[in-house]
Amino acid sequence: MACQERDPTERRIAKPVSLVAFWPVALYLLCMLDEIVNAVRNCRSCVVLTGAGISAESGVPTFRGSEGLWGKFKPEELATMAAFISNPKIVWEWYKWRRQVVGEVKPNPGHYALRDLQQWFDQFTLVTQNVDGLHRAAGSENILELHGNIYRNKCLDCNHQFSEDMDIDPDNIPSCPHCGGKIRPDVVWFGEMLDAQIINKAFSESEQTELFFSIGTSAIVHPAASLPITAKRRGATLVEINPEMTPLSGLADYYVSAKSGEFLPTLVERLKQTSPPG
Ligand code: APR
Repeated sequence: MACQERDPTERRIAKPVSLVAFWPVALYLLCMLDEIVNAVRNCRSCVVLTGAGISAESGVPTFRGSEGLWGKFKPEELATMAAFISNPKIVWEWYKWRRQVVGEVKPNPGHYALRDLQQWFDQFTLVTQNVDGLHRAAGSENILELHGNIYRNKCLDCNHQFSEDMDIDPDNIPSCPHCGGKIRPDVVWFGEMLDAQIINKAFSESEQTELFFSIGTSAIVHPAASLPITAKRRGATLVEINPEMTPLSGLADYYVSAKSGEFLPTLVERLKQTSPPG
């Protein structure tokens, strides 16, 4: 289901600026930009997968990398069911801090560009691993939140979801009014299953899509990381946007070494100039 006839062995990789003189890189990026514009123009369906990197320019820390959260905190002590059972207070303190961090930030130009990008397609699905709600705040539609949402809560025992605002006191964690179980954040922890309906929909969209963007994810946490691979195997054109290379970069038709908040608005501007939606 490729949207363009192209040599499948061909790979386009934008080299980091430090390795070669600047102007050939700029020219190369520009050519790649035009090829991606063409891909958007020629495809009717698109799936975008985002990770923590898309929110980095809003001020939300990523998980991995030199400044990543998992370099400073231990995931097994904060983001697992075992951690919550043995020390729910620490886990809730961590999530309260993260709620505060994401509550103070706003969507960045990358989020807004993705909201605008949807206009160029008949079918557009935004799959995110982020729990920060910034895509919705930017106005994107048709969002699949694979790892839950940091603002929602649910019952540890009966799974009942609470979408209303709850100010949780880590020293006095509220109980579920239905079964008395402890209330926990409605996010997917390590070792937990993703919501079957959401992940199945993400896979079926990825299998059918003509164009797939992987943006700001280290592409190592599965099953999310399998989505671009699935799309590519089914013939989609695969574009990756990330300043750092990932295990996906070698598979991508276009690897763009850039920040999403810089490249995506440029892409949308170019699309508006050369092929307005409609
Ligand atoms: N633009 C694009 N990408 C960026 C930017 C930026 N401005 N800044 C950083 N990145 C890239 C990094 O190079 C890195 O590859 O974003 C990626 C972030 O990777 P991770 O921190 O591993 O985040 P993610 O891939 O979303 O992690 C997946 O792991 O711990 C779990 O549940 C958590 O959903 C998360 C999952």
